[in-house]
This record gives sequence, C-alpha cells and structure tokens, in this order.
Amino acid sequence: MTLDSFVRGLPKAELHLHIEGTLEPELMFELSERNQIALPFASVDEIRAAYEFTDLQSFLDIYYQGAAVLVHEQDFADLMTAYLRRAAADGVRHAEIFFDPQTHTERGVGFPVFMKGFASAQRDAEEALGITSALIMCFLRHLPGEAAIETFQAAGPYLQQVQAVGLDSSEVGNPPELFVAAYQAARDQGLRAVAHAGEEGPPSYIEGALDVLGAERIDHGVRADEDDALIERLVAEQIPLTMCPLSNVKLRVFDTLASHNLKRLLDRGVRVTINSDDPAYFGGYVGDNYLAVAEALDLSREDLVLLARNSLEAAFLPEERRRQLVSELEDYAAS
Ligand code: ADE
Ligand code: ZN
Repeated sequence: MTLDSFVRGLPKAELHLHIEGTLEPELMFELSERNQIALPFASVDEIRAAYEFTDLQSFLDIYYQGAAVLVHEQDFADLMTAYLRRAAADGVRHAEIFFDPQTHTERGVGFPVFMKGFASAQRDAEEALGITSALIMCFLRHLPGEAAIETFQAAGPYLQQVQAVGLDSSEVGNPPELFVAAYQAARDQGLRAVAHAGEEGPPSYIEGALDVLGAERIDHGVRADEDDALIERLVAEQIPLTMCPLSNVKLRVFDTLASHNLKRLLDRGVRVTINSDDPAYFGGYVGDNYLAVAEALDLSREDLVLLARNSLEAAFLPEERRRQLVSELEDYAAS
C-alpha cells in the first residue's frame, strides 16, 4: 500500500481544527455573492494568492476578513458539511471542532444562527458518513477577559452542544491568566478545557494554560521544547499536544517541515497528535499533514499508527466509542 493511502486510511481523530479556517476560496467567493458581502478580491485565484503569511497575525487579519461572508444558518451548515466530508475522506472518525463565536457575534450574527447550522450538518454527516464530532468554543484572546465571560453567558442556551472551551487568536502579550474567570465558569458547568499555547508564545504560557486554566490538552505547544522540565511534565502527565505542522511552516514557526520538533517530542514520549488547524489557508487537511510529516521526518508506519492512537486517546470521547475506534485502528495496523 502506498504511504498516501496508508495515512488516509488510518482511523484517527482530528482535535485541532478551526471551522472558520476550512472556508475554501471557492465557498468564500460563492457566499460573498450570495450574501452581498464585498471582498477585497476579484477572483478565487486572487484570494489564494493573498495567502502568503509572515507570522500568526498576518494570517489572522485575512482569516477574520474571510469569515465575514458567513451570515446565515445555511452558510454555517455548508461550511461544516464541506469540512466533515473532507475529514471523513482522510480517515477522520471523530473530530473536535473549534469555533470562534466572537468573530460572528461582533458582526451581529448570533448564537442561534451558527449553532443551528453546525448542529444540522454534524447530525447529517454522522448519519451519512459515520463521523462523530463535537464543538469546542474558543475565546478570542486579543479581546478582554470580560468579553470572554460575556460570550460564555451568551452561549448559555446552547451549552449542551458545546463540549469544551478553548483559547485562540493573537498569542504573544495575551497570556492565559487573563481568562481565568471565563474558564472557571465553563468548568463549573462541566465543560472540558483546552488552550492554544506555545505556538508563538513562551513555554510559561503552556504552564499557565495547565495551571490556571485547567487545560487538559495544549494546542500547538511546540515551544515546550525550550524547557526541559516542562517536557518532562508533559510526558509524566501525558498531556496531549495537538500539533499542526503545515500551519507551523506557513506561519513561520518553523522554517521547514524537516526542522519541525514533532518526531523528537514523540520519541521523548510526549503524547503528540497531528492536525490541520486552518486547512483552507495552510495548504492541506489532516491527511496531507500526516503525509507531509511522514516524508519530511521519515516517520515509520509504527510512528503513524502511534500518532493516530494518540489522537484517539486524547479525544474527549465516551469510553465505548474510544474502544471501538482504537480497535478499528488495531485491525487496520494489523492488516
Ligand atoms: N485561530 C485560527 N488559527 C489559529 C492559530 N493557529 N493560532 C491562534 N489562533 C488561531
Ligand atoms: Zn489553532
């Protein structure tokens, strides 16, 4: 079997995926016309040509601008359906999907609109493709901690649709400590917690995410590598890192995939997973990420099975579904 079909067939979970980051230029263009929202681009090719980033912020500026074409419930359903179809084709059996409510509420698009759109698409995909999914509500860290609390309150009627809270957007200068109250409120309601940390920000943000926010997984976490004691802690506590290698190269966190620390941390015993982050902007979905890393870092098939197993172990899945998926993975690896 070719490496390509092997990685796409691996039963896996995707744990770091921003639904707004799956907005392909074609759908962006279509929605801009459908909703009469002007874009500063004349064609799909022009949109794609604008995707040259120098750092996280240069990406975020374009990403928030693109999300402005999402207005109606059907738009959010179309976005979710397109992602889940692509994910299922890449062997994703379960996805835990970030959404950024403040990107929409700030434009006057409210919770009922996007939550209903997501829910219908998730239900349909589970029925048609057998892919299960959950939602992780992210707070935008470039906005104040009070805005995160207000967002959590606004989500009240839809909390049964939300499995966890997360923290994303511009990292440097916006440490986890600013979001303690919002996370506390979420955990008091029984939600799980994750946070972006150590993508561009220092290792201390990873410690903060664990210690003051109660994060159970760290999104990215590549800069943990600068602190040996922190790596030892991640290994001892088996704290998952949801890494996104193609994203890291596009946003210049690493110069090349060959210099990525994923394999080194995996070999040290960190529970590393591979994910796609914002695939419409970074040149590949989760299967492309597995394949590119396998080639650049010379991963063995055992490494790839371990990465897929880590994704299933790190997912917030009911134990019965986890057992079922791990056993699918074991059958696949043995075949
Ligand atoms: N929002 C979408 N993608 C992100 C990333 N890679 N880091 C922080 N916030 C994001
Ligand atoms: Zn991310």
